[in-house]
Amino acid sequence: MNVLLLGSGGREHALAWKIAASPLLTKLYAAPGNPGIATLASCIQLDISDHPAVIAFCRDNHIDLVIVGPEAPLVAGIVDDLAVAGIAAFGASRKAAQLEGSKGFTKDLCARNNIPTGAYQRFTAAAPAHAYIEAQGAPIVVKADGLAAGKGVTVAATVEEALAAVDACFNGALGEAGAEVVVEAFLDGEEASFFCLCDGISALPFGTAQDHKRVGDGDTGPNTGGMGAYSPALVMTPEMVERTMREIIEPTMRGMAEMGAPFSGILFAGLMITDEGPQLIEYNVRFGDPECQVLMMRLRDDILVLLKAAADGQLSHMSARWREDAALTVVMAATGYPGTPQKGSVIGGVDAAQQSGAEVFHAGTALKDGQLVANGGRVLNVTAMAKTVTEARAKAYAAVDLIDWPEGFCRSDIGWQAVAREQAGS
Ligand code: AMP
Ligand code: GLY
Repeated sequence: MNVLLLGSGGREHALAWKIAASPLLTKLYAAPGNPGIATLASCIQLDISDHPAVIAFCRDNHIDLVIVGPEAPLVAGIVDDLAVAGIAAFGASRKAAQLEGSKGFTKDLCARNNIPTGAYQRFTAAAPAHAYIEAQGAPIVVKADGLAAGKGVTVAATVEEALAAVDACFNGALGEAGAEVVVEAFLDGEEASFFCLCDGISALPFGTAQDHKRVGDGDTGPNTGGMGAYSPALVMTPEMVERTMREIIEPTMRGMAEMGAPFSGILFAGLMITDEGPQLIEYNVRFGDPECQVLMMRLRDDILVLLKAAADGQLSHMSARWREDAALTVVMAATGYPGTPQKGSVIGGVDAAQQSGAEVFHAGTALKDGQLVANGGRVLNVTAMAKTVTEARAKAYAAVDLIDWPEGFCRSDIGWQAVAREQAGS
């Protein structure tokens, strides 16, 4: 198979790493890719928002499957346009991508299908949102409706903070994404990321993970795209997975099909595991980043077989097998992230970290005069696997110590919830 992978982050490097191990692969292309992906694929200069150009590339290079990493091309309808051109693609259609593209859309779907999620209201003006918040009290959660690169959510501890978040949205702080606001009840519990491969009808559970959204140790500081993850998420017991499938995923699949927007691709449910059971916080229509990195480490089966089956509507007889081991990834970010990261600092020691037995996935890196330099906020994902999360964490941080990059930083407590659980159980 000739495969074109779209994207340039650590998620896509991990996908490329797993795809490259498939005996079915003939040639892997990536657009735009990054220096890590370039060790596994031909990286090509292609404007992925120019759909006719992507289609022309696929035709010229006999691409059998396009795999879309990030959400933006999905929301822009790349999979629909490829389908019209007769090119198979793994990912959600434009209509189905609304599950991530519009929080209001997802909340309404939940309401219609009795999917457990926090009580909410949608607003297009500040005054009624203020009145609702004042009536509900704090803690309460304010969300910009549209895509805001992980920056659209305020978990407000006080009414004042919530009112200020509403004002920031309607004053244009988040651009178009903030033109509508969802105000939602605060859910108390432990978060988990739950993934399903979907083919429009069937949903195949595809692993669990726990992310670390805040920039600082002890879950402090501003939200980020994710500072580290591990898999499996111990809170997702077999019973919790079964409930999530029955109460959340299956009604979503039915609801989407009924709306003429059957969901195909990867469905990523952000869950809060509360005393009453799983509640949906949000959907994403792509693999999590950095959750994908730990899932790819643990997946035993051939990813190309599974993604092609999802794209072709053939998942119902498929299964996915996972290594028993735990995997953990530590995100190394550039100073300034999640604000304005410093670019251009030189990174050494990646080979030494790899040789220690970790996988170092590249996210925001570039090559400059033959040297690896930082070129984004989240830069490297140092990933390791071992019998327990505690051991995987030790291995990952030992590899982090081999990276020579004074301008980079990472959290020092990735996996703390699982480590506490493992220590309590031992
Ligand atoms: P989201 O962008 O929707 O994933 O939200 C970012 C983060 O905000 C989530 O990972 C949660 O930690 C938190 N969050 C979002 N919604 C809620 C909620 N209703 N209750 C508590 N925390 C929430
Ligand atoms: N790590 C969370 C996300 O990809 O949205």
